[in-house]
Amino acid sequence: MSVSQGESAAVSHDERVVREFSKQAAGFADPRLNVAFTRHLDRLVRFMDPELDTEDVVLEVAAGTALVSRAIARRVRHVTALDLTPAMLAEGKRAVDREGVTNVTFAHGDATALPYLDRSFTLVVTRFSLHQVADPGAVVAEMARVSRPGAALIIADLVRPDGLPGDPDRIERLRDPSHGTMLTEERIAELIAAAGAEVKRRETFDFVRPLQPWLELAQTPDDTAAQIRKELEKELTGGPVTGMRPSEVDGELHFTQTYTFQQAVAG
Ligand SMILES: C[S@@+](CC[C@H](N)C(=O)[O-])C[C@H]1O[C@@H](n2cnc3c(N)ncnc32)[C@H](O)[C@@H]1O
Repeated sequence: MSVSQGESAAVSHDERVVREFSKQAAGFADPRLNVAFTRHLDRLVRFMDPELDTEDVVLEVAAGTALVSRAIARRVRHVTALDLTPAMLAEGKRAVDREGVTNVTFAHGDATALPYLDRSFTLVVTRFSLHQVADPGAVVAEMARVSRPGAALIIADLVRPDGLPGDPDRIERLRDPSHGTMLTEERIAELIAAAGAEVKRRETFDFVRPLQPWLELAQTPDDTAAQIRKELEKELTGGPVTGMRPSEVDGELHFTQTYTFQQAVAG
């Protein structure tokens, strides 16, 4: 994984994650900035619907502000929302208190070393985390380990479409130096299989989104944001391909991400 410009290699990936998401935490509650996290939430809940049971004891891994946990809380017995960044957990806790949700509890921890015994949960979910962590295989293996046999595993993430030209991870890391690597849909399925689970359903779709709120949420420094904007504008007029699939919608610069939802059954 590349180290961002001018930054010491001594800063670990996890330290970079905590630094970046401590900055972003408040933005996850701002409707002007959090659209990518709320726009398709109903669609994810519909995708999860056949797996949800009022007896479920759920774990959300790398839950951030627990948007997914909060969306399913009233459909299950209990949800634990675990994340590495205390500021994200604090934002989520404020939200559940405000919303009067009493069956979501928060835990500080590392997705690659979950602090739970084997077979603890009847449903385990993670969204927008595999592209973020240094070792996505370890996250999937941990999710499978803490799942009861037959439990549903739900993984939702950004993916890199097969054959996509350019290097979107480079631009993603310019915007947020804690970005890891986007996997392909197939690679996620392979990690699930390697963890001893079996993929049953998948849903994959594109999301065309405005550039500006994406940069603002990450608080990308002005000069770097200008560089990203310039590269995307150049691509629109025939310049080098960035992999960000830029477009102009109503005169505003947009780019495209591909999201996959995958449901598997733990072995
Ligand atoms: C893009 S946010 C997504 C938050 C949430 N999953 C959602 O979809 O709304 C990524 C989250 O992953 C968390 N994260 C990254 N690496 C982690 C790790 N090793 N263990 C636990 N959480 C991690 C970050 O702290 C951040 O809250």
